[in-house]
Amino acid sequence: MGAGKSTLGPELAGRLGREFVSVDDVVGARAGSTISAIFDEQGEGAFRTLEEEAALDVLAQRAPAVVELGGGGLASPAIRAALAESAFTLRVETTVEEAWERVAETDRPLARDPDRFRALYEGRASLYAEADGSCRELDGAVLAAAGVVLAPRTEAEGDVVIADEHVAALHQIEATFTVPAGETAKTAAEAERLWRSLRANRGSTLVAVGGGSTLDLVGFVAATYLRGVSWLAVPTTLVAQVDAAIGGKTGIDLPEGKNLVGAFHWPARTVIDTSFLGTLSEEERANGLAEVVKTGLLAGERLWELETAELGRRCAAFKAAVCLRDPFDRGERAQLNLGHTFAHALEAASSYSVPHGRAVGLGLVAALRLSGLGREADEVEELLGVEPVRIDRNTAWEALLRDKKSVGGRVQLVLLETPGTPRLGVELPEDEVRSVLDSLIA
Ligand SMILES: NC(=O)c1ccc[n+]([C@@H]2O[C@H](COP(=O)([O-])OP(=O)(O)OC[C@H]3O[C@@H](n4cnc5c(N)ncnc54)[C@H](O)[C@@H]3O)[C@@H](O)[C@H]2O)c1
Ligand SMILES: [Zn+2]
Repeated sequence: MGAGKSTLGPELAGRLGREFVSVDDVVGARAGSTISAIFDEQGEGAFRTLEEEAALDVLAQRAPAVVELGGGGLASPAIRAALAESAFTLRVETTVEEAWERVAETDRPLARDPDRFRALYEGRASLYAEADGSCRELDGAVLAAAGVVLAPRTEAEGDVVIADEHVAALHQIEATFTVPAGETAKTAAEAERLWRSLRANRGSTLVAVGGGSTLDLVGFVAATYLRGVSWLAVPTTLVAQVDAAIGGKTGIDLPEGKNLVGAFHWPARTVIDTSFLGTLSEEERANGLAEVVKTGLLAGERLWELETAELGRRCAAFKAAVCLRDPFDRGERAQLNLGHTFAHALEAASSYSVPHGRAVGLGLVAALRLSGLGREADEVEELLGVEPVRIDRNTAWEALLRDKKSVGGRVQLVLLETPGTPRLGVELPEDEVRSVLDSLIA
């Protein structure tokens, strides 16, 4: 009570594209009365009965919603059982002083006396502690709902630790298995080696420690081994902390192309420990910065100007919200492809010798120019030090036409109305797209 649920709840529902339901409002509507009147006229016991009925009905609904439930409801074993069965519970952190300040002026039946309020708060503390996650504000709520925590790597505990060999050596990771550094690990052969070496059971948890490549491989092995075991992601690059570790896409490459085999399999938890980033090479840092700039353009905020921990938290929360709204990539998640249609073509035409971050930088400039956002394009060019690449123009154009996300042979672009407002599935005349692609090539 007084933690700010009725402000945060609707905001979170908006961010996740879900309905917001307040159990108190359902009780009030059904009783044709207010909560205070029910308390005053019929007593707390009568309210708790109505609250239990309402909460159980709300929790039995199939459509995912954000549900506001008062702390008192947790005293009901039936409500607690329904929460455990069908909800992810989030505690809104507050102190008793903050909460009292918020409720003292209101007409809440259980907030009429400060000593009683404190006793109630302390009495319920052990129930609150059982929540699946906790948060203070909106981004924190989104991250908690997506299972993302900013915490030391030691918080990721599992049965089998699988680490990028380079990261394991640099950061003294005691790994059960190591995998080759970076993209070279994303092969069917490496997946098979892990499948055949794992001595895990259905209840096991795999812990993946490394960049996006390691997480993609281990997540895929977790999705497929014994038809699916749980896994935890411990991302060690900036790319992985702001992008690859979030959203549940896992997979490996084939000789025919990147990420051609995979599965959606969300990690049970993603533990972001920014102390890993200290050992990143200049190139890996630049790869991450390009994704941060992409995220900032989609969010309409200059996220790249924040300091590392806050920048990571905000970018991760942005991606988490998009992925929670569209978990299987059937709609608006396509916005995360901003700049990537061009980037993939440039990378493929260079046989992957152009680093991803450099390609994304060029791709973002192309998308901004086609969006008519020249000032933003200039700024990104400057910020990422974007330089044209030396590749064959025809090879790049053919690679662009083969884009995985094309529909009926026509390239679907993500552009921006303005920063913060993406436009998906934009089809432009070929000559316009080709001339922008050509401008990225030296
Ligand atoms: N699943 C997704 O949603 C998603 C999203 C974006 C990218 N990805 C994938 O992620 C991969 C790229 O991942 P990445 O950019 O994180 O890099 P990476 O995993 O390929 O690693 C790149 C290099 O950085 C090294 N490295 C990792 N952590 C380090 C650290 N803390 N200090 C020093 N060196 C470190 C690695 O050993 C490797 O040499 C691609 O395969 C891409 O397809 C997946
Ligand atoms: Zn990318």
